[in-house]
Amino acid sequence: MITDTFNPEVLRSQVAFITGGGSGINLAIGKALARLGGNVGICGRTAERLDAGRKELEAAGAKVFAAVADVRDDLAVQAAVAACGEALGPISFAVCGAAGNFVAPAEAISPKGFRTVVDIDLLGAFHAAHACFEQLRQTRGSLLFVSGGQSYVPFAYQAHVGAAKAGIDNLMANLALEWGRYGIRANSIVPGPIEGTEGMNRLGGDNAEAIWKAMTPLGRMGTMEDVANVAAFLATPLAYYISGARIAVDGGQNLTGSHVFNRAIGDALDAAKGETA
Ligand code: COA
Repeated sequence: MITDTFNPEVLRSQVAFITGGGSGINLAIGKALARLGGNVGICGRTAERLDAGRKELEAAGAKVFAAVADVRDDLAVQAAVAACGEALGPISFAVCGAAGNFVAPAEAISPKGFRTVVDIDLLGAFHAAHACFEQLRQTRGSLLFVSGGQSYVPFAYQAHVGAAKAGIDNLMANLALEWGRYGIRANSIVPGPIEGTEGMNRLGGDNAEAIWKAMTPLGRMGTMEDVANVAAFLATPLAYYISGARIAVDGGQNLTGSHVFNRAIGDALDAAKGETA
């Protein structure tokens, strides 16, 4: 538990805003921040998920703001960010975490499918960062982008996601450069194979766990808490001189490339079509 290591008051009076914060890694980040005294705003596409997320965040000690807003809708994101600031106080930690993914060969991704993932991941991240700018300037706060290994290692059947995640990391670096003058930091976190996530369900296949363990130097899947702890650290004063960093929380998996993933998913796709490679 993060409070075994950090002062449970270290984020007292800080406000986080997390896109896609109703579930998964993003919700785990919210809970870690809440356990350190932070209050948390979340947005997402479905009220049901947000309601469930709100309950978990409140149980972790946060005051919570929640708004239904699809990150593809810039005006909805702006409204949610403004309302969060009104409800909880100015945002000091903005987490651009909403993401969409599916596995498909490049030739089977329609232009609309490609655009959908870029819209959610990259434009959605820009919408949130842009909407939070004034509040972050006021608090001299920071941005955290949830990127992916596809940003810098090509993963087969992830052409759309790789483009979006590479864009996110470049956006992060650009904002670190431009907004540093306002005291705003920007960083990316790169989750590796994290058990229990929707992403792993989508990028898995039957042998997913064994495959990912084999690809990961530390020999185990990560937990959502592994990622959330690093995210929370980036919100604390211990990280106040970290900006422009892309931090892998993946047990070293990025060192081993994407071959096993490519082969396993390729086999699964071929099997579904009744073909062999
Ligand atoms: N293979 C190929 N194309 C696919 C696909 C797949 N498995 N899944 C979706 N698409 C295409 C659709 O066919 C459509 O394009 P088309 O109209 O030209 O055929 C396009 O993507 C949009 O799909 P749609 O279902 O209308 O989009 P959506 O906005 O409802 O959902 C997704 C967005 C596709 C990203 C969906 O997977 C999603 O909602 N994901 C959110 C959760 C998630 O992915 N979490 C994991 C993050 S790592």
